[in-house]
Amino acid sequence: MGFKLNLITVLTVLIVLGSCKNKKQKQSAIIETTQTKYYAEPYRPQFHFSPEEKWMNDPNGMVYHEGVYHLFYQYYPDDIVWGPMHWGHAVSRDLVHWEHKPIALYPDEHGMIFSGSAVVDKNNTSGFGSAENPPLVAIYTYHLMEGEKAGRTDFQTQGIAYSLDNGNNWAKYEGNPVIGNEGIKDFRDPKVMWHEASKKWVMTLVAGDHAKFYGSKDLKKWELIGEFGKDNGAHGGVWECPDLIPMKVEGSDEEKWVLLISINPGAPNGGSGTQYFVGNFNGNTFTTDQKETKWIDWGTDNYAGVTYSNTPNDEIIFIGWMSNWTYARDTPTEKWRSAMTLPRKLLLNKVNGSYQLINYPIDELNTLVKTNKKKEIKIEAGEVETIQFDNINQSEVKFHTSLKDLRLTFLNSLDEKLILSINAENSLFLLDRSKSGKIDFQEDFGKEIQQIPLANLPNEYFEFRIILDQSSIEIFINKGQYVMTAQVFPNENYNRLTIENLSQEQILLKSFEIGKVSRIWK
Ligand code: FRU
Repeated sequence: MGFKLNLITVLTVLIVLGSCKNKKQKQSAIIETTQTKYYAEPYRPQFHFSPEEKWMNDPNGMVYHEGVYHLFYQYYPDDIVWGPMHWGHAVSRDLVHWEHKPIALYPDEHGMIFSGSAVVDKNNTSGFGSAENPPLVAIYTYHLMEGEKAGRTDFQTQGIAYSLDNGNNWAKYEGNPVIGNEGIKDFRDPKVMWHEASKKWVMTLVAGDHAKFYGSKDLKKWELIGEFGKDNGAHGGVWECPDLIPMKVEGSDEEKWVLLISINPGAPNGGSGTQYFVGNFNGNTFTTDQKETKWIDWGTDNYAGVTYSNTPNDEIIFIGWMSNWTYARDTPTEKWRSAMTLPRKLLLNKVNGSYQLINYPIDELNTLVKTNKKKEIKIEAGEVETIQFDNINQSEVKFHTSLKDLRLTFLNSLDEKLILSINAENSLFLLDRSKSGKIDFQEDFGKEIQQIPLANLPNEYFEFRIILDQSSIEIFINKGQYVMTAQVFPNENYNRLTIENLSQEQILLKSFEIGKVSRIWK
């Protein structure tokens, strides 16, 4: 009897355990299927922002208010190519995890909604809200297609809209447009800031080959106060998406103003890119004695980037559109098109008397990285170190080295390769995606080797940080002194990294680490 009971008990326990196990398996299977269904299409970025579906381009209206970072973006909800523009909307509390929101702004009788910015009107200067509930005000460009089609030149005007519930609902101002057009074909992308010294709002707008500054007391009536740039910087294409930012030079009390200007085409590695000027702003206009053209990012895929308004601690946080107009409409994704860069913190450095804008991923992103132990890697002249890593397309690679001839190749079993190299003699960093995977969707995509001329790097060891997602690579050299962002579409994930010493002496990679980056989508 005792034995029988015992046997029954054991059997029951086994059955219960068994069914528990089955249940667990079933449960995890369910979790897995739901997890793999959402944001799991080929090339879907796992920790970069991309819209759930359809076409996206520039980030717009980036503003922080009451604990929420808003990200609006150029959006066409009916197709995966560019079309009548709306403002899509997403929110985040940490700039890492995002929640999708309904479309914020729809085209109206004045036109489609092109790029622009948003501010918190703290003193309710616009009168749209109240002292207790200050409005969010969006300032954007209207693009009237009928006007363009009719061959007119006045089809871009500026409009405003406001929200009294932290961005959930928007009302257009009935006095729109707030700035008309007297015949400037490219007249767009207003970026507005509060200028405390002159107690007014300042709008930076681009007009083809230069920037215009407008001033306003109430965000509704604007007057032209200054112009900049006809004879400054790169002019290989039309000027777009400006941003005027007051910045302190790191390690000093020197205050400068930085003007970001995206241009398309005319970027150093082809197509779209973003240049910057460091100078002064007197409340009316911007001036600079900068001679050379400077680029915030040397890669092909960081465009139309601007910074957040009203951030805590006045941090300057930048997000760009991770694509290039040369092939943006052709990239091999099906459900959605394109993603944003990682949010990056901007700093201004002075190196050997020259100002340099630094951009480096915000610290919050570190929470996603599960880093393997740091180690030192020594590679003798002519030798190769091989690192196997399951799914390099969701990883971060970091190490410190000095300027030496080195080649890093990310490979998969199809022998597709993405090649990064340092050419010490010519002080160049190079990225070759010609054999990286799918490249033939557009003729220019894999053609040129992308380059960064490295000047002013320290003589000692400095950091290389490389972040790969399913269809992108971002490379930060010396903590963001030089940056390269590029899209890449391998037919299979990379799972091997080779590091070749092409120099005549031993190379030391200090604190080498490779880690998996977790996905942000639930
Ligand atoms: C930049 C840009 C802007 C314009 C928007 C239209 O990528 O061309 O100048 O406002 O895209 O979608």
